[in-house]
Amino acid sequence: MDDIETWLHQTDYARHDSTDGLVRGLPGRAYRDEAILQREVAKWLSNTWVLAGVVHEIPGRGAMTPVPNLRVFLVHGNNGQIRAFHNICRHRGHELVGENQTQTRFIACPYHGWCYDHEGSLRSTSQFAGEGGHFAKGFDPAAHSLRPVRCERWLDWIFVNLDGNAPPLSEHLGGLTRRLKDLDFRNLRHFHTLDHGEVQANWKLVMENSLEPYHTPYVHTKTGAGIPLRDHYTITEDGLLGCGIYMPESAPGGAAISDGTLTAESHFLSVPPLLIFVVYAGTTIIVHRNLPSLERPDRTHRTVYLYSLSEQPLTQAEIDEWMEIEYIIHVEEDGPVYENLQRGKHSPVTDDGGILSPVWEEPVKAFYEAWHTALTRDGDTP
Ligand code: FES
Repeated sequence: MDDIETWLHQTDYARHDSTDGLVRGLPGRAYRDEAILQREVAKWLSNTWVLAGVVHEIPGRGAMTPVPNLRVFLVHGNNGQIRAFHNICRHRGHELVGENQTQTRFIACPYHGWCYDHEGSLRSTSQFAGEGGHFAKGFDPAAHSLRPVRCERWLDWIFVNLDGNAPPLSEHLGGLTRRLKDLDFRNLRHFHTLDHGEVQANWKLVMENSLEPYHTPYVHTKTGAGIPLRDHYTITEDGLLGCGIYMPESAPGGAAISDGTLTAESHFLSVPPLLIFVVYAGTTIIVHRNLPSLERPDRTHRTVYLYSLSEQPLTQAEIDEWMEIEYIIHVEEDGPVYENLQRGKHSPVTDDGGILSPVWEEPVKAFYEAWHTALTRDGDTP
């Protein structure tokens, strides 16, 4: 048993073995140790579905976009199909797609000019066999196609599965789609993107924050002012974790924003390990793309996409209000918390994992259990 096996065995959250009967959190090491991150990648992050991008950002044939941190890119092919490939040239491993591109005819490597088509086949290897020669004797282009990544979409959202062995996407999202069965997505309309870039925090800290309402009265002092903790509840069901706000008096048909305060019946729904899907008043949807660094445990790339389900497009004033309030929620209120917690995970005080509220942090406990189950299961992803 290696060091991590031993440590995980001792950190068995299924046993809930704190002496006071309450449940402890993950020790600080889980957030700062590169070996733990590599085990997460091998045991959980590679064999699940990860929200990698959105269809509206690669709108036409030949459009391509790199997926931050995953070393993958998405391409809208000539037949309209969206594909994902490892963002690695088969010659000597240079990155192929570094930024969004539109109307491309080929995928061209910037290092020595090798070109692939949108299906990933190698089409030319500029001067590889000398002046005017593409394919050297004995060279098999078919053996040097781009490596595909399993890719499926649901509405505007494109998911990838790095090891190709996850259950179908519909199964992964089953709890979420059943919960949302009464929403009408026919008018789904993207209206804003908030790109955070790299947050200096471990990906689990981002997820945990979305799972519990306990922090809301203390962190969301501007945007959640006036909503007492007692109006919140937690969700641990059917592959879904999260929390919600019960607000029967909220205006039907739309979330109410007044002086930077947001009041709406809300559901913060998470599908572990990475997806966060927020519904405000049944009419506004906020989808979080969280992409852990595969090398650094203290980096997570975050993007937040805002959508409306209303029949009528939002007015510019309504869009401006949402842009402002989401900026405050994610950048001014939650953003500093992630980075503060990451710094704290280097203190020996966090070795015991802290302790969870038995009322407000049940979804966090369930998340830790899922994490522990994934990291201790048999078999490695290559
Ligand atoms: S690494 Fe891509 S062409 Fe050389």
